[in-house]
Amino acid sequence: QELQMNLEQIEKGGYEHFMLKEIHEQPDAIRDTYRGRLLAKEGIIKMSGIDDNIEKFTNADKITIVACGTSWHAGLVAEYIFEDLARIPVEVEYASEFRYRNPVITNKDVVIAISQSGETADTLAAIKLAKQNGAFVFGVCNVVGSSIARETHAGAYTHAGPEIGVASTKAFTTQITVLTLIALKLAKVKGKISNSNYHYHLQELELIPEKVQKALQSDQHIQNVAKTYKDAKNCLYLGRGYNFPVALEGALKLKEISYIHAEGYPAAEMKHGPIALIDEQMPVFVIATNKGHYEKVVSNIEEIKSRAGKIIGIVTEGDANVKNLADHIIEVPETLESLTPLLTTIPLQLLSYHIAVMLNKNVDQPRNLAKSVTVE
Ligand code: G6P
Repeated sequence: QELQMNLEQIEKGGYEHFMLKEIHEQPDAIRDTYRGRLLAKEGIIKMSGIDDNIEKFTNADKITIVACGTSWHAGLVAEYIFEDLARIPVEVEYASEFRYRNPVITNKDVVIAISQSGETADTLAAIKLAKQNGAFVFGVCNVVGSSIARETHAGAYTHAGPEIGVASTKAFTTQITVLTLIALKLAKVKGKISNSNYHYHLQELELIPEKVQKALQSDQHIQNVAKTYKDAKNCLYLGRGYNFPVALEGALKLKEISYIHAEGYPAAEMKHGPIALIDEQMPVFVIATNKGHYEKVVSNIEEIKSRAGKIIGIVTEGDANVKNLADHIIEVPETLESLTPLLTTIPLQLLSYHIAVMLNKNVDQPRNLAKSVTVE
């Protein structure tokens, strides 16, 4: 028993929980993900799983992404990147829905399955169905040699290292990293991105680990924010564009480990329902980085403010507008719009973590949840 305890302590590497360790591992994990693949100076992206099957991707009518949980959110981020940069139509599906709804998939399709564990039953079944329909199936997995890694035609590992905490953290950001590399590679091969924009993306992606490190330095401030909102009964998460999926993921993290009800919404959809819930009891976490739909998100923030909602803005360093409107702001470093999810996710992970710890919840093994769901 004692030996077991000590082993666990060692595995946690000085952190109180696996989740916190894994949050802090993200700079290294992202670096491990792109090591040997991203050659920014040379302007090359090397991924054998893509290189060896490049025609499958360039000839595809569309790409369908299948996944569950947090991996599904990574798929949603990828949808924005693939469509924006590579101009390939993308559908993102819950594997559990895809497998039972007679999807229109042919041998002109590429299906990308995303799974940390590589063992999720619904995702595995979706892959088998896609293969039966003649699609080329590509896996993005973390666990080497897992069932999904074996069942797919080709793939790219995330190389995030073991993820023990049930709430997924580094698997998510490394999945986004792999999918960004793929999108950039396809954008280049298909001639959909200018040379300068391509090189700019490569350089910026290479800088992401140090910017994640910087985002992690707000930990103490985030703990204070967590203290303010830990007793909330409901929370709303809003974001637009690339950061809409991050809002979903932020809400998922909070409900998974703190059991506080939380919903993620595209900021502009707020007026079609959630706005009715806003009062002085409702914390609203709004991702409002300075690119993309910034002004529009700021006007959403004004709408929340005029209904007395509490506003926590996730903003770009140096932001002045949101600061004047929000109750709290949490800054992340500036980057390209397409890469902001890799940074805006970080404070939302820390926030959920601290709230769950303050509420005395079992952070690494939340009730009713499993790390990998190998049954339907
Ligand atoms: C479970 C886990 C989640 C995970 C999801 C998909 O629900 O608790 O953290 O996102 O399964 O798992 P996968 O291994 O396929 O990414």
